[in-house]
Amino acid sequence: MAPKKQHHIETLLLHGAYSPDAATGATVMPLHQSTAFAYKTAEDIESVFAGKDAGFIYSRINNPTLDMFERKLKTLEDGLAAISVSSGMAAISTTALALAGPGDEIIAGKSVFGGTYSLFSATLKRYGITTKFVDTCNVEAYSEAVSDRTKMIFVETLSNPKTDVPDIAAISAIARKHGIVLVVDNTVTTPLLLQAKTLGADIVVHSTSKYINGHGNSVGGIIIDSGTFDWSNPRYEHLEPFYKKARHFAFLAYLRNQVYRDLGCCLSPFNAFLMSIGIESLGVRMERHCSNGMAVARYLANSDKVHNVRYPGLESHSGNKTAVKQFKNGFGALMSISLGTKERCFKFINGLVLAQNLANIGDVRTLVIHPGSTICRDGTEAERAAMGATDDIVRLCIGLENIDDIIADLEASLAGI
Ligand SMILES: Cc1ncc(COP(=O)(O)O)c(C=O)c1O
Repeated sequence: MAPKKQHHIETLLLHGAYSPDAATGATVMPLHQSTAFAYKTAEDIESVFAGKDAGFIYSRINNPTLDMFERKLKTLEDGLAAISVSSGMAAISTTALALAGPGDEIIAGKSVFGGTYSLFSATLKRYGITTKFVDTCNVEAYSEAVSDRTKMIFVETLSNPKTDVPDIAAISAIARKHGIVLVVDNTVTTPLLLQAKTLGADIVVHSTSKYINGHGNSVGGIIIDSGTFDWSNPRYEHLEPFYKKARHFAFLAYLRNQVYRDLGCCLSPFNAFLMSIGIESLGVRMERHCSNGMAVARYLANSDKVHNVRYPGLESHSGNKTAVKQFKNGFGALMSISLGTKERCFKFINGLVLAQNLANIGDVRTLVIHPGSTICRDGTEAERAAMGATDDIVRLCIGLENIDDIIADLEASLAGI
């Protein structure tokens, strides 16, 4: 049965992009663990290279398993098409390199994920691309930072670990006014909680290593073009030859046939296979992540051992109103808590039995980390503070265990600090 557009997202997770194989009836999409794809004649392969015929060539450029994974993700984000990549960072870096060049500028919030901050502030800077960092939730600041050289405005739906919630529709209005591409990182909310295209995202990126996969067994990323941006815009004159040939597919054509192909950041077909299985349960997983997340946030907010809880579902959170407006189905599993000092944070983490101390989010298990000494340690003190990673902060990402067991684990550890 072909999936229909009007099916709900939970149905598309199971039926979008792949129907049982006509020859064998296999219900799980196949793994094409092949480096290259053979053609009968030299003329046949020449036609595919020339773009006259469709076909798979080499798994650094395209692959049938990756193609199915990409079609699934583009369906979930209601996009035009998608390209899978080796990690979330590869999704962000290749997108930036496909949009901007030396002398160009990016605008991004100060509280973006540490890896993204490092990419923008150090790596891309070395190649002549400058990032203007603004207060993540100050819409006016994005407007003030726009210049003739701005090639991308980048926002996260829910910043990690600070849990900032920028008003994406308002930032999109600024991007639209100036003809600038708005790139939205939807990793922490997923299409289940936030439909980025409806808020004005032109390009949506994900680290599929997190909730999309859900089971902590592989690293990957995806870039989805929403189909909303007019790629004939002279701000992106380097895309002109691609616009002439591919029209509204210009950005993805340039990415696949140039930046992505040349940088070699392809996703392994095996990882795409694992993620395609993982994603099938995203609907029920997100429901449980959200209900457990809310219960833990309320519990911690009432604990006299915890100085502060940042969870967008709590009314006390500075982004609660925006989250209520933008999120559907709940507020996710990510939160950060202040325990006053680094020593108390370490004692709390070391006292946990169930929650695992590791550098990931969006896993079925409950995860915890001290960001200031680990994932955000590279920055200055001021940069760490802007990311919400001061010494007194612990990040939690609540898993799918029984809520009583999660709370008992937290309670026992808090009692010891
Ligand atoms: C919001 C966000 N974007 C991107 C990334 C990078 O993803 P990856 O680790 O798959 O490169 C992360 C990783 O934690 C993240 O939280």
